[in-house]
Amino acid sequence: MKVGIVEKPGVLKIAERDVPQLTGARDVLVQVKRVGICGSDIHIFHGKNPFATYPRIWGHEFTGVVADTGAAVQSVKKGDHVVAEPIISCARCYACRQGRPNICETLKVMGVHIDGGCQEFVIVQEEKAHKLPAETPWDEAALVEPFTIGAQACYRGNVQKDDFVLVMGAGTIGLTAAINAKIAGAKVIVSDLVEEKLQYAKQCGADWTINAKTEDLFKKVREITGGMGSNVTIDAVCIKKSFEDAVEITSAAGRVVELSFNELPSEIAPVGIIKKELTICGSRLQTRRFPVVIDYLKAGKLPLSGFVTKVYPLSEMLEAFDFVDKNNASVRKVLISVP
Ligand SMILES: NC(=O)c1ccc[n+]([C@@H]2O[C@H](COP(=O)([O-])OP(=O)(O)OC[C@H]3O[C@@H](n4cnc5c(N)ncnc54)[C@H](O)[C@@H]3O)[C@@H](O)[C@H]2O)c1
Ligand SMILES: [Zn+2]
Ligand SMILES: [Zn+2]
Repeated sequence: MKVGIVEKPGVLKIAERDVPQLTGARDVLVQVKRVGICGSDIHIFHGKNPFATYPRIWGHEFTGVVADTGAAVQSVKKGDHVVAEPIISCARCYACRQGRPNICETLKVMGVHIDGGCQEFVIVQEEKAHKLPAETPWDEAALVEPFTIGAQACYRGNVQKDDFVLVMGAGTIGLTAAINAKIAGAKVIVSDLVEEKLQYAKQCGADWTINAKTEDLFKKVREITGGMGSNVTIDAVCIKKSFEDAVEITSAAGRVVELSFNELPSEIAPVGIIKKELTICGSRLQTRRFPVVIDYLKAGKLPLSGFVTKVYPLSEMLEAFDFVDKNNASVRKVLISVP
């Protein structure tokens, strides 16, 4: 079978591998149909993801058909459509025992620490194979994983109905956060520097957009919120300044959700946190968000029209990576279609 592999930083190719064999009773063999290219895959390709090791079959956003199951598998059967939850955790460490396997001490993400989904066939554990309706188009099924990232940000920020939620950044992740916040009944403000991105955010349901290049973000947010500030601020810009701004702009009793993997420290005065009793939290990957997003998908709540920018066959994987690299400002999601 064919696989897409980053042999070492800068070297991406299609290689041949044997089809994996079921070994565990709860193994599910998935015939992959679509793999999404994420910003982190581009970073892995360029050698800029600190967690990745090489050679690495890339892909943590993937969906397909169940081709075979181990003897003890009950929740899915051959022919079912599934989307994979690409994380492996230990079930023993403190975080796992707290029900938070996404931050397991020995967390492994498929496509990053271990081989991922850009292969014709891949094995996932039963509990990580989430069943989808057979009628869900593959291009939509492939979006479930990125939407779980936005769902997690809203869950961590305890987004409530009628909250003012500011999502900083209208990239793929910011959009998924904004859409999840809208579904939760929040009033959503989205900021970005690119007008086209803001227009798309509006199309996805944002109530207000702010172009942080041409408008004063603080002034606009205060105007919209009657001087209060945003109740929840989700930082999907992820630079030093955006974290600082998020703390500043959030209302009393508000929540700041940080998504950044940035290693640069931000300068934040404690008084700003104390005075407003802010909750500042990180959000990483997701916990138990797959069923939530799949329910939204089933209920037709996700505005997915135009979300997939382009689909390339596996044979044109290099062109697909090149396209994402060169069109970073306009790409929302590019998918690989596996034959
Ligand atoms: N914590 C997690 O689980 C997790 C998961 C996935 C991605 N991420 C992180 O989320 C971030 C966003 O990912 P993405 O794929 O959406 O990236 P992206 O590059 O597509 O989006 C970033 C957006 O921010 C905008 N922007 C830049 N500077 C801005 C500013 N000053 N004000 C407003 N907007 C500004 C850009 O125009 C762009 O639209 C990345 O840093 C990524 O590493 C975190
Ligand atoms: Zn991703
Ligand atoms: Zn653990």
